[in-house]
Amino acid sequence: MKNQYIPRLAVIKEVKDETSDVKTFKISLKDGRSLRYSPGQFVELTVFGYGEFPACFSSSPLSQRDYFEVTVRRVGDATNAIHGLSAGSIIGVRGPFGNGFSLRMLKRKDVLIVGGGVGLAPLRGLIYYLLEKRGDYGELKLLYGARTPDDIVFKDEMVDWDMDVLLTVDRAGKGWIGNIGVVTILFRDTEIKPDNTVAVICGPLIMISAVSAELLKRDFSEDQIIVSLERMMKCGTGMCGHCNIGAKYVCKDGPVFTYRETMEFLEAAF
Ligand SMILES: Cc1cc2nc3c(=O)[nH]c(=O)nc-3n(C[C@H](O)[C@H](O)[C@H](O)COP(=O)(O)OP(=O)(O)OC[C@H]3O[C@@H](n4cnc5c(N)ncnc54)[C@H](O)[C@@H]3O)c2cc1C
Ligand code: FES
Repeated sequence: MKNQYIPRLAVIKEVKDETSDVKTFKISLKDGRSLRYSPGQFVELTVFGYGEFPACFSSSPLSQRDYFEVTVRRVGDATNAIHGLSAGSIIGVRGPFGNGFSLRMLKRKDVLIVGGGVGLAPLRGLIYYLLEKRGDYGELKLLYGARTPDDIVFKDEMVDWDMDVLLTVDRAGKGWIGNIGVVTILFRDTEIKPDNTVAVICGPLIMISAVSAELLKRDFSEDQIIVSLERMMKCGTGMCGHCNIGAKYVCKDGPVFTYRETMEFLEAAF
């Protein structure tokens, strides 16, 4: 039986700078096999000598079978270490872990995607999946907020996404003529109707909380709001208890939950 605590060796194929502190890594397993995963799931990545950290897939599993992508913001030991690696470096990969987005639930629905900061990473995997199966989904819309214009991730590819994309920044820089303010201000600029819509949110907890409140005000039900949560993790498999909130393990029961599910452990999470 495969031991899920032993990382598989993988090769970094390409590294792309997204912003000053975010990079996207294209990764292939060293044995040439493809990793089967769903949008919203995550892997545990080992940078040997530095540590391990969870990262969601930022690629879609449909079009890219010989590699996968993760998009990582450097915040500490392991993420700084992976930022120092280049194409050809060997890392460890465990997973995929977690439930991922319920693609069946999104079928035939309009999908409102709301992202904050590097929270757009797992949503990018979902966006490519939905765009590749465009006929199975209704209207697609992205509302995205970043700290400054320089912190907007996937800037160059967003223009090619066949969907409404609305952006805002907390602080404008020179030359920015777009929206300024937190992501919820974008609700003013676009029609958001609950009929046949599912909202998918990923970003800091405070943003998830504010966006969910706006949606509930607009008559979305708790089951029409899907959130992807982050929590300190170690094992990724529901064994160590690090990611536990209330009765749930974010690594195993999540990281994707309906808002209704999070209400059970909301006080602990927010
Ligand atoms: C399911 C899941 C998916 C994730 N996906 C992504 C992703 O796609 N891209 C991305 O950039 N980041 C993602 N993260 C966050 C990422 O795992 C952390 O930033 C990383 O673990 C930090 O490791 P480090 O060794 O660099 O930091 P450390 O040196 O361990 O810590 C540095 C700082 O980061 C904070 N931190 C550590 N772990 C986490 C964590 N799990 N969540 C939030 N803050 C943390 C610490 O509190 C500390 O302030 C995800 C986290 C989870 C749980
Ligand atoms: S990370 Fe160990 S139980 Fe979730």
